[in-house]
Amino acid sequence: MRVLVTGGAGFIGSHVVTALRARGHDPVVFDVRTDPASDVRAPDAVRAALNGVDAVCHQAAMVGLGTGFADAPEYVSRNDLGTAVLLTAMAEAGVRRLVLAGSMVVYGEGRYECAGHGVVRPGPRAEEDLAAAWARATGGSAVSLRYHNVYGPGMPRDTPYAGVASFFRSALARGEAPRVFEDGNQRRDFVHVRDVASANVTALESDPHAGALTAYNTGSGIPHTVGEMAEALSKAHGGPSPIITGEYRLGDVRHITADSTRLRTDLGWKPEVTFEQGMREFAAAP
Ligand SMILES: NC(=O)c1ccc[n+]([C@@H]2O[C@H](COP(=O)([O-])OP(=O)(O)OC[C@H]3O[C@@H](n4cnc5c(N)ncnc54)[C@H](O)[C@@H]3O)[C@@H](O)[C@H]2O)c1
Repeated sequence: MRVLVTGGAGFIGSHVVTALRARGHDPVVFDVRTDPASDVRAPDAVRAALNGVDAVCHQAAMVGLGTGFADAPEYVSRNDLGTAVLLTAMAEAGVRRLVLAGSMVVYGEGRYECAGHGVVRPGPRAEEDLAAAWARATGGSAVSLRYHNVYGPGMPRDTPYAGVASFFRSALARGEAPRVFEDGNQRRDFVHVRDVASANVTALESDPHAGALTAYNTGSGIPHTVGEMAEALSKAHGGPSPIITGEYRLGDVRHITADSTRLRTDLGWKPEVTFEQGMREFAAAP
């Protein structure tokens, strides 16, 4: 299968390209990082890139939490406008298969069960209607993989948009202790980038429902706290123990974990890298 991988030079995209090649597919990278003209917001460039393509694996995005509200126009431009231009070009070109990066962020603060108040669901959640509308209108199939905290080799580093594992890893490389915000007990599902890449390949090779968007939580299935992750990295790196700072970041959610069972049962995907193995490897990575 010839697969256009948008964001194919990025952290997850580059692993998807490797995983596709290993399965005998023909990935084509489309990423502004390697070619400024390969911008998902540029209709002509996207149209040209879709030539002869069987499927699209959409990973291009501006990622992270942002450093302030001034970042909002650039996020909307790259992520919303970029996706809209891509979907339009796919509809015109008759490319009917799409696997796209979703995110645990759609859950917002999530749903909790409280002994006193029963089920509590704080705040409204965003919809992912754009891709669903594209699938309905074109008869295409779309699979959204809601990645949890992806980590592993090639992770972006030393930018405010990098993930927490990368911040800790950079601190250890400087000989400093990882600084853990809040009380360190925030729960996350750390999933290895090779497992996320294989989830993309599995979704591309699957036979999803035409005319529909199917969303799958994509996590290891075994949550860990941010403090445990910092400990595991410090230990594996042989560096100083983490410091719990009590600081916090506006916009951070207390716990984000989800049940990823459906991705296993529907598509037969299985994560291969355990937390212990993955953190050991990441701590030692150059
Ligand atoms: N890393 C995680 O933990 C995580 C968690 C949840 C969701 N995601 C999602 O996974 C996807 C990939 O994330 P990543 O961690 O690999 O990030 P990344 O920043 O390493 O990769 C994104 C790539 O997209 C490219 N890109 C940005 N704007 C573009 C544009 N307009 N046109 C073409 N290419 C463009 C960048 O150059 C970069 O190479 C994103 O949609 C992200 O939101 C990541």
